[in-house]
Amino acid sequence: MSKTSSLRCLITAGPTQEYIDPVRFISNPSTGKMGFALAQIALDQGWSVDLVSGPVNLQEPDGAILYPVVSAESMYHQVDALFDVCDVCIMTAAVSDFTPIEFTQHKVKKDTASRTLHLAKTIDILKTMGERKQAQFVVGFAAETDDLEANAKAKLTNKNCDWVIANQIGEEGIGFGSDNNAITIFKKDGSSETHGPTSKLALAQTIIQAISDTFENTPS
Ligand code: CTP
Repeated sequence: MSKTSSLRCLITAGPTQEYIDPVRFISNPSTGKMGFALAQIALDQGWSVDLVSGPVNLQEPDGAILYPVVSAESMYHQVDALFDVCDVCIMTAAVSDFTPIEFTQHKVKKDTASRTLHLAKTIDILKTMGERKQAQFVVGFAAETDDLEANAKAKLTNKNCDWVIANQIGEEGIGFGSDNNAITIFKKDGSSETHGPTSKLALAQTIIQAISDTFENTPS
C-alpha cells in the first residue's frame, strides 16, 4: 500500500462572518471554491476529508465531512478539535483578522450621524496549529495585493508552515470568487513553483499531487 492512500486531510474554506448585531457582520468575498476543489481532489485520491467551512453557497463533495462554522472563533474551535488527528492540513479560509469587541443583541438603529466600531484581533488559526504541529504537513494560503513573495515567505516562517501558497489578488479573472486562479507555492526548503492561471480544480489537482509526491518521497 502506498504511503498516501489513507491520509486524513483537514481543510478550512470560505470566509468567516463576525457579527456586529443580529443583522450585520464583517466578512470578505471568499466563496470557498478553492477549499472545496481541494476537498474533492483529496477524496478522489482516497484520502478522508474534514472540511471546516465558513458560510458558502457550495455543496460539499460526496464523502467529505462538513463542519459548518460562522466566526473565526468557531472555526478555531473546530480546527482545534480536528488538528491532532490529521496528516495534512490545508488552510484556504479567508479568516477575518478582526472581530467586534461587543455584539449588540438588538438591531442598531441609524439614529446617530456616525458610529465607531471597536474591533479585537481574532486568533490566528494557522499560526496556532503551525506552532503545535508534530508530523502534520501544514499548508497555508496567502492572498496578497503587494509584495507577494516577501509577504508569503514571511507567513511561511512566522506561521511555521511546510508550504505557503500565494496568490495575487486584485487581478481580473482570477482569485476571490472566480473559477480560476494563479498560484506560487513557497516551500520550507526555499524552493518555489508557479502554476496557472488555470481553473481552481486544476490547481487543486496540482497541489494534492504535489503533497502526495512529498509524502511518497519522505523517508519513513
Ligand atoms: N489565517 C488563520 N487565522 C487567521 C488569519 C489567517 O488561520 N486569523 C490563515 C488563512 O487561512 C491563510 C493564512 O493564515 O491560510 C494567511 O492568511 P492571510 O489573510 O493571507 O494573512 P494574515 O495572516 O491574516 O495576514 P495579513 O492579513 O496581514 O496579510
